[in-house]
Amino acid sequence: MNKHIDVTDTALLDDALAGLTARQKYIDPKWLYDSAGSALFEEITAIPPYYLTRTETAILRANAPQLAGLVPPGGALVEFGSGASVKTRLLLENGPHIGTYVPIDISGPFLQETAADLRRRYPSLSVAPVVGDFLHPVHMPRALSEVPKVGFFPGSTIGNITPEAARLLLSRARAWPHVDAFILGVDLVKEPAILVPAYDDPAGVTARFISNILVRLNRELGATFDLSAFDYQARWNADAARIEMSLVSTKAQTAVLGGHDIAFAAGEPIAVSMSRKFTSQSLQQLAQDSGWALDALITDPDALFAVAVLRPDGG
Ligand code: AVJ
Repeated sequence: MNKHIDVTDTALLDDALAGLTARQKYIDPKWLYDSAGSALFEEITAIPPYYLTRTETAILRANAPQLAGLVPPGGALVEFGSGASVKTRLLLENGPHIGTYVPIDISGPFLQETAADLRRRYPSLSVAPVVGDFLHPVHMPRALSEVPKVGFFPGSTIGNITPEAARLLLSRARAWPHVDAFILGVDLVKEPAILVPAYDDPAGVTARFISNILVRLNRELGATFDLSAFDYQARWNADAARIEMSLVSTKAQTAVLGGHDIAFAAGEPIAVSMSRKFTSQSLQQLAQDSGWALDALITDPDALFAVAVLRPDGG
């Protein structure tokens, strides 16, 4: 085992052990995004079969004035999982009236770097970053309690959390004082012939991205997963309307993780990530279940992806 064990290491170990000793093995996809994983995901967003990023960007670009206009003058734009705030810049470029940008992200250092960059680029914008996990309640800066707010959650990341977690996130945003709207990026249900290659690209970038989670367990926790004995698999689950990404053990084998033997049968999967896809009906249902009404659904000409505008329901 290498070096000392810090808090993050024990969180990863506890979490991975819980998942890998469950009857149906799984690993929480949040562990995909270390620096190697984040770089691999960046690579995915640029490969031809992964239509999501470029399509959403085109929709945001074509509708930027209208979307930025949802924020009242002096109001705040609040983004979940902001990362490098790449898509947000399309709205900020078209929203000189926006008073405050609140990026929420789990990575503190990265968030501060992005905030500094945005302050340089948009000198009249107030940038108020919040370090946090969007699955938990957000501690909104107190100075914003009376300021009108618009939520922003692009990337179809809403599809990577459970339906319950998605409802909770949207309900909490609905309960913000003076919330005016919520801009939500969602991937749409379509033929598996388009969906599956987006998550199983011929160059194998997605396979490397998903396998990176075992690479991490080996490197950071001294685990002994044999990478050559797991195959990446992406399948479309039509009933649940989601892509399921897993690593399948190609043979009966045992790996050691944190002193525990993890036994695999031949063909046994580790579920790593899921990506739910929406229809206008399922989206409308999600909105309604969390106190919102679907005000507009903006799609690309091929109806691959959608940017939804939600408005508070009944008020
Ligand atoms: C960025 C989480 C939305 O589900 O499309 C891409 C993650 N995983 N390929 C998605 C992902 C495999 C991506 N999200």
